[in-house]
Amino acid sequence: HDLVVAIDGPSGSGKSTVARRVAAALGLRYLDTGAMYRAVTWWALEQDVDLADVERVAQLARELPLQQGLDPADPTVAVGGIDIAAAIRSSRISAAVSAVATNLGVRAELVARQQAVARAGGVVVEGRDITTVVAPDAPVRVLLTADEQVRLSRRALEVHGSADASAVDATRDQVVRRDADDATVASFHEAADGVDVVDSSLLSLDETVAAVLKLVEA
Ligand code: CDP
Repeated sequence: HDLVVAIDGPSGSGKSTVARRVAAALGLRYLDTGAMYRAVTWWALEQDVDLADVERVAQLARELPLQQGLDPADPTVAVGGIDIAAAIRSSRISAAVSAVATNLGVRAELVARQQAVARAGGVVVEGRDITTVVAPDAPVRVLLTADEQVRLSRRALEVHGSADASAVDATRDQVVRRDADDATVASFHEAADGVDVVDSSLLSLDETVAAVLKLVEA
């Protein structure tokens, strides 16, 4: 079908996993917009481009030969034929991505690409500004939140394979700083008018997916 589901949320809210599961359940495609900002970041660092050179980085975004697979069972990301799915999750990219995401020229280009996918319909689009900027008219718009402590534990488990105190500490600095940097462009902690909030702090993954699917049916 041509349904568009928009999902926003901060780091560790579980939005990627939830968005993929929702897309699979509904037979929709899946667009990870964070992967696009990460891909521009990867490409810029690969070419030793100074991220503070906003014009140059915006130009790179416009020229980015991105190939993104939209199958929720196998969401691939490649640039110029190079598989970068794993590389864009590195802490090097995570630490640099906000500098690219706050570049308005980059945002203009990536938002336009994302809107082209949304216009075609039949997709779950996930990110930070999907409910507000990319697809404000989507029939289903969800802000996925979770308490900071829960988000840090989830992210620590993802990145360090453990959610013990030292892993959570290592994660805290990165996540809190990136959230603060990101907040200058998209205020993703507050739901815009008409956006449904799903707080996953006390929910399992299955329960969170079910809560979003219920909003789709409503
Ligand atoms: O690690 P996490 O899942 O939180 O991040 P992500 O969804 O992969 O997004 C990585 C970064 O891309 C974010 O920290 C933002 O800087 C940026 N981003 C954005 O600005 N707008 C979006 N729609 C998606 C991501």
